[in-house]
Amino acid sequence: MRFPQSFIEEVKYRNKIEDVIASYVNLRRAGSNYQGLCPFHSEKTPSFTVFPNTETFHCFGCGAGGDVISFTMRAENLEYPDAIEFLAKRAGLAMPEDEGGEKTISRSRYYEMNREAARFFNRCLSLPEAKEARDYLAKRGLSNAAVKRFGLGFAPNSFDALRNHMHKLGYHDEELKTAFLCGKSERTGNYFDYFRGRIIFPIIDHFSNVVGFGGRALGDAKPKYLNSSDTPVFKKSKQLFALNFARNACADSLILCEGYMDVIAVNMAGFPNAVATLGTALTTDQARIMAKYTKKVILSYDSDEAGVAAAKRAIPILTDVGLEVKMLRIEGAKDPDEFIKKYGATRFKTLLDDSQSKLDYLCDSVLHKYNILIPEEKLKAAAELCEMLSGIYSDVEREIYIIRVSEKLSINPQNMKNDVERVMRKKRKEESAEFKRKIVSDTLGYGDRVNRDFVKNARAARAEEAILGILLLRPELMRDIKQGRVALSSSDFLTDFGKRVFDAFMEFEGHFDIGLLAETFTPDEISRIVKMQIDRSKLTKNDLSVLEDHIRTLKSESADKTSSDTLEDIQNLINRKKK
Ligand code: UTP
Ligand code: MN
Repeated sequence: MRFPQSFIEEVKYRNKIEDVIASYVNLRRAGSNYQGLCPFHSEKTPSFTVFPNTETFHCFGCGAGGDVISFTMRAENLEYPDAIEFLAKRAGLAMPEDEGGEKTISRSRYYEMNREAARFFNRCLSLPEAKEARDYLAKRGLSNAAVKRFGLGFAPNSFDALRNHMHKLGYHDEELKTAFLCGKSERTGNYFDYFRGRIIFPIIDHFSNVVGFGGRALGDAKPKYLNSSDTPVFKKSKQLFALNFARNACADSLILCEGYMDVIAVNMAGFPNAVATLGTALTTDQARIMAKYTKKVILSYDSDEAGVAAAKRAIPILTDVGLEVKMLRIEGAKDPDEFIKKYGATRFKTLLDDSQSKLDYLCDSVLHKYNILIPEEKLKAAAELCEMLSGIYSDVEREIYIIRVSEKLSINPQNMKNDVERVMRKKRKEESAEFKRKIVSDTLGYGDRVNRDFVKNARAARAEEAILGILLLRPELMRDIKQGRVALSSSDFLTDFGKRVFDAFMEFEGHFDIGLLAETFTPDEISRIVKMQIDRSKLTKNDLSVLEDHIRTLKSESADKTSSDTLEDIQNLINRKKK
């Protein structure tokens, strides 16, 4: 579906990029631009820049860039049409009437469909046939208040209870299937209710839309939990259970749990700042979402081996987006839910207050793994700890941990310190080698995920980027090309990416707007396109002559595409870098 260009322009006009971004980032004026700390990666000095003149942003640290629409897509984790809707709402604009396109209709239709289903499940919980479910909830200590707060429900043990109900409301099987409310048998072609005989946990996004469901079996049936798969309105990797409550209560911290039941138990114990992933490992997207709302995450995973392993994987993901990580040490119970049942809310509060820094946690987990009374094991523990401590950035903090750990191992701290420093030197060497490799490979375009052909035609690719950058800077030149005043066509482009961007430029009637690219290009691609423009924003010479210069280069490259010129070009590049 395409929004009318005039609407996109209106949305952008009413949502000045610097105003929108200012509600996410502390911006400071720098000449005609603004700077701040990048919200998309963790940094201490501002490299995130907003350019009001071109209505774009770019981070010189991580490369993220785009316009106010792609910013919103990234910052709010929204797909293109939702980002438009979000901004339209922000500016008090009504969405345009849809001209027969389905998508805008169906998105709100999915939300309504899910809400109706949630209502249905919730009502079913009071039916006589739900007695077992009610007993189960009672046995698990879930109060009526909890049921109400989380909108829990029951899916009757039937193949068509929900379907029949939804049919009456005018929904048909095919759309119920897309929403993962029903499935379809490959063999018979029959549709059937997806959730049957299960306790239902609605998953609600931060706009209070019901986007999906989790269903727990009563007793030991397998699988224990059944979850909606991804749908047009539900991306599991970008949602957190109970964020709708937690987002208003997480100024200090978010408590990240493994399961639905844990979140509910923690909530009912008086901590509404709990969330959980949805049966999958923590993703960077989810970490970014958390970082939007809080600075600190208390990891409250299960105390079993799987939980500990998952916690260790989660730590760097959280740290990388700039979150401080604390670890909850649950002892005497397998998860927060069980702990609260057994020991009560007050002791859980103590547990939260005593949550360890991630370093203590990681050190302890190494110490627990080995029997340090056996010399070989003690050696292994020491080696692992040295490796870990070598990663601490602050000298003082490292020193503190070296002393603490060496005491536990009964080793002379000076020896431990020597070993840690040896590991650090080794790492530094490896890093600088890695850095050199990266420079060469970046120059060559290896690892260039956005423009995969860069390496094959480095010279042409650079000319293409220059051309596209200038066109972005001076969109009126696009018209000159279209009308044949400047001779350049899609077939002159050698890289696929360059060609796609050029074609997209040429598709526009009237005023070009980068906001319209976000529909067909990925956020990474948009970032790259914006960078092409920014790299050229200092251009002072006559744009047309510079443009023509690059066009000449590109055309000569495409003319002798068959010659071995490019390899030579690469070799020259490497030599130049070596100097
Ligand atoms: P757990 O097995 O720890 O379940 O899985 P739990 O949350 O403690 O649930 P109870 O207390 O036994 O009822 C943690 C999370 O992993 C996902 C669910 O999101 C669950 O909450 N999971 C687990 C699934 O998606 N499918 C499964 O079959 C099991
Ligand atoms: Mn549990």
